[in-house]
Amino acid sequence: MRIKTWAAMAALFLVSAAPAGADGTGDPAVASVSDGEYADKDGNPTFKIEPDGTVDWYTSVGYIRYTANCMQCHGPDGLGSSFGPSLVDALQTLSYSQFLDTVTNGKKNVSASQDLVMPALGSNPNVMCYIDAIFVYLRARSDGALGRGQPQKNEPKPAGYSKTEDACMG
Ligand code: HEC
Repeated sequence: MRIKTWAAMAALFLVSAAPAGADGTGDPAVASVSDGEYADKDGNPTFKIEPDGTVDWYTSVGYIRYTANCMQCHGPDGLGSSFGPSLVDALQTLSYSQFLDTVTNGKKNVSASQDLVMPALGSNPNVMCYIDAIFVYLRARSDGALGRGQPQKNEPKPAGYSKTEDACMG
């Protein structure tokens, strides 16, 4: 019993000593912010979630856009379905640029036993005008920083966001 407790404590120590929550894009820690969009030290989009559950604007938009455009294949909360793989898992190894490439150009795994295809969504403004938001939301899910369901509290809409959005949507 005592030995087991020791082993459990040692395991806990190892977990907490590992680099803080790196995913396929790297360390998600916030290093900068521009117009409500947070970025990590490499300039890749990242999430910011307060201890009380308040999420950044992009994470909250990402949830809505993911649910509208990706959920039918990738399942509720990014967890996967019989039509598409879990993106919570995929982002553990996929980088931001690989993510962008796949969403823009699609993907067909020829060796897959099932005939499932990721459609190329590069010309769909409902996806591409919100791609950073979708990524940030999924990154937060993948890093375990955000639970299932719709975030209940979010930061206010950044000044200038609507203008950029309108320009993109045309
Ligand atoms: C019509 C169903 C469908 C829709 C809609 C869809 N996907 Fe996919 N997606 C797939 C399938 C199937 C795969 C697996 C393709 C493969 O591995 O060959 C996939 C793969 C991916 C991958 C690569 C995963 C990996 O491990 O390499 C990413 C990233 C991805 N999808 C993101 C998205 C995002 C973001 C959206 C919404 C904007 C979306 N998908 C909408 C079906 C879909």
